Amino acid sequence: MAKLDLKVPDLTLPDGNKIPFIGYGLGTAWYKADPNSPKDQATIDATETAIKVGYRHLDGAEVYNTEEEQGIAIKQSKIPREELYITTVCLYSTAQIWQSLPPLISQRSVLTIKQKVITHIDDIPAAIDRSLKKLGLDYVDLYLIHAPFFAKGDNKLLQQRWAQMEDVLASGKAKSIGVSNFLKPHLDAILETAKVRPSINQIEFHPYLQHGDLLAYHKNKDIRVSAYGPLTPLTKAKGGPVDAVVEKLAKKYAVNPGEILLRWAIDQNVLPITTSSKEQRLSDMLRVFTFKLTPKEIEDITTEGNKKHHRAFWNHIFDANDQS
Ligand SMILES: NC(=O)c1ccc[n+]([C@@H]2O[C@H](COP(=O)([O-])OP(=O)(O)OC[C@H]3O[C@@H](n4cnc5c(N)ncnc54)[C@H](OP(=O)(O)O)[C@@H]3O)[C@@H](O)[C@H]2O)c1
Repeated sequence: MAKLDLKVPDLTLPDGNKIPFIGYGLGTAWYKADPNSPKDQATIDATETAIKVGYRHLDGAEVYNTEEEQGIAIKQSKIPREELYITTVCLYSTAQIWQSLPPLISQRSVLTIKQKVITHIDDIPAAIDRSLKKLGLDYVDLYLIHAPFFAKGDNKLLQQRWAQMEDVLASGKAKSIGVSNFLKPHLDAILETAKVRPSINQIEFHPYLQHGDLLAYHKNKDIRVSAYGPLTPLTKAKGGPVDAVVEKLAKKYAVNPGEILLRWAIDQNVLPITTSSKEQRLSDMLRVFTFKLTPKEIEDITTEGNKKHHRAFWNHIFDANDQS
């Protein structure tokens, strides 16, 4: 195990708050289809392990049905609240989220189809109260809108929902507010009327889904980007053009290929959200803060990555070749 005594560096958000530069996710592998199912001890244990090895940024969401597990792990960790960074995300629609999950997880989610479709995006202040109760917290560090697709192109609706997020911020129940899965038109729409701009946009981002000039757009608008699914080339899209360069760099830096993919994001000022059930892997992944890729190495991965397209989430929203 990489016994590193290092503190994860922070990324400064446009609102001045600091966020640890890697997040531990409580979705995907930990997702529970049935909100009424018993608490999942494996999720609690893995989250406690993540905190123990040095992760301080925990990325949850109402739809994962793991906020209670997240809250228990936080409490049991005995780490002072102010040293942890807690994100949660307003439930968008169980049906839409279900369709966006990869096939393996979807099979576990058959229950969800039978449930009534639930959406909490209509009343965001009520949604944060429910999340805080499940987490056992007075505030979250970051609150996000899960996706813009509920608005179906209605910009006024997006703007109204963003105004509700601003109300949550003003209430002190979230220290920062942001969005997830927003593309340029969605961001343009809310920026037209926003009093507070989104601090961050959490998107699927890896070499096989680089979204054209979306990173440059965020830089220009002073909005940070975080990446979910950063290991997709190793997990759901293995056998592609980046494998060789990632393997070569893993040897050079004496790390695992996954760490090269995380570093590729970090070196572009993109904050990766990953997860693992394995202590060794979680610990090893923190080595990403001990090296940097050169500009040429970043470019090599970017170039090879652009030779293949793979979107792992929200496929029902996008055409197969849509790389936006
Ligand atoms: N906002 C959204 O719409 C959205 C969507 C999806 C995800 N998210 C967030 O992002 C988090 C991370 O997403 P993700 O799970 O897709 O991230 P990821 O970092 O791409 O994948 C993590 C998964 O990869 C596995 N893994 C790691 N290294 C591997 C290797 N070398 N070979 C094979 N498998 C390997 C891990 O399993 P082991 O247990 O075996 O290590 C883990 O299940 C989620 O938990 C959630 O918090 C948000």
